[in-house]
Amino acid sequence: MIDATLWGEPVSPFYSPNVTAQIASEPWQLVGYYALRRAIFAEEQGLFDVSDVDEHDKVATPIVALSQVAGMPDEVIGGVRVFPIEHGTWFGGRLGVSRRYRSRGVVGTALIFAAVSTAHANGCSRFLATIQLQNVPYFERHHFSCVQKVEVCGQPHQLMEAALAMYPPQVAHAGQPVNGARVAAELRRPRAA
Ligand SMILES: CC(C)(COP(=O)(O)OP(=O)(O)OC[C@H]1O[C@@H](n2cnc3c(N)ncnc32)[C@H](O)[C@@H]1OP(=O)(O)O)[C@@H](O)C(=O)NCCC(=O)NCCS
Repeated sequence: MIDATLWGEPVSPFYSPNVTAQIASEPWQLVGYYALRRAIFAEEQGLFDVSDVDEHDKVATPIVALSQVAGMPDEVIGGVRVFPIEHGTWFGGRLGVSRRYRSRGVVGTALIFAAVSTAHANGCSRFLATIQLQNVPYFERHHFSCVQKVEVCGQPHQLMEAALAMYPPQVAHAGQPVNGARVAAELRRPRAA
């Protein structure tokens, strides 16, 4: 990330126009993934005292969104995890985007696509997620539908299910990362009027 002042005047921060999403494949990506989760779910949202890591992380697949500089991955700017529960049912969770990269129309979508498509390729026949109520419209735009209301960390959530047909089975490994701009153009429904 390049963010500086020039002769005392702030210079507009650099935003990578290219965003990809993939399974975390290198140690620095895992470090960034857990740091971002802690920043969002413990420090920003206060859902956890110190760490949001739990037993699901022992089996979960960590997926990261990466900014690019000169064609090379630069920084972890988002993350999500997926894990199987039973009989083809998978859960996604801990979806988060760094503040600088929110509402840029790319990062969350890239992560959702990478998460559901990767689970689909690994035998998932039902993909579920517990969604904070304020984010339900956002997930509806990504072809998720409501299943039932649930409580998580003492907060009301909505259990939602992905329309798997919208997510072709495809593992988002490092050699074939999800292109954020492409899936944002192809996958996302327009915002409801
Ligand atoms: C929710 C979150 C993952 C969305 O990711 P993002 O990369 O910022 O979203 P995108 O840029 O892909 O999409 C932005 C679009 O969705 C809309 N949007 C973003 N968050 C939304 C929400 N909570 N409800 C409805 N719309 C939302 C934006 O207004 C924007 O709409 P537009 O394309 O018409 O301008 C991100 O805001 C975030 O990390 N929030 C904090 C953590 C969190 O709440 N995680 C989800 C737990 S269920």
